[in-house]
Amino acid sequence: MRTIATIQQKGGAGKTTANYLIASGAISNGLKVHCIDGDRNSQLGEWERRSQDYDWKGEKPIWPENLSTSQMPGDIDLLYNHLNDLEKQGVDLVLLDTRPGSNADTEDIAYATDVILIPTRAEAADYELAVETNIWIKAAVGMHLGTLPHACSCVQAPQNR
Ligand SMILES: Nc1ncnc2c1ncn2[C@@H]1O[C@H](COP(=O)(O)OP(=O)(O)O)[C@@H](O)[C@H]1O
Ligand SMILES: [Mg+2]
Repeated sequence: MRTIATIQQKGGAGKTTANYLIASGAISNGLKVHCIDGDRNSQLGEWERRSQDYDWKGEKPIWPENLSTSQMPGDIDLLYNHLNDLEKQGVDLVLLDTRPGSNADTEDIAYATDVILIPTRAEAADYELAVETNIWIKAAVGMHLGTLPHACSCVQAPQNR
């Protein structure tokens, strides 16, 4: 089982969207995927409920059996327990979404994940906070990040730039 955490201090930078897209791509390729939502707005954690409740004008899509979601547990020990349970259930990929800001619960997620993805739009505020996020996470998880791959992805580049 592998885990990817999407972290960026700035709201609206594309964290949750990145999770939707990675999850969709991974289930299409036959992986069993679980999304853990670390944002209190429950956008990702309630993906299934929203899909079920939505007033689809055409045929209602069938929720994929290899995709599930949950909310971030209360602390890092519970998060590790949750990840162990998911591995036993045969989950291949866990996507961990986080909330904006520099929060202790996001630091727990950074500590527990294999890989960190920092989305940034092609805007100054996003770039600045992507750099801040990198510095913060390195300080927060210390030497652990020395072996932890992390990448910054640029999304939503305006046309002609
Ligand atoms: N690559 C993209 N292209 C176009 N719109 C995007 C892209 N990524 C995100 N968005 C839009 O930007 C808004 C904020 O994205 P979201 O993923 O909710 O950000 P965050 O989770 O970082 O707060 C949403 O309306 C989303 O649809
Ligand atoms: Mg979000």
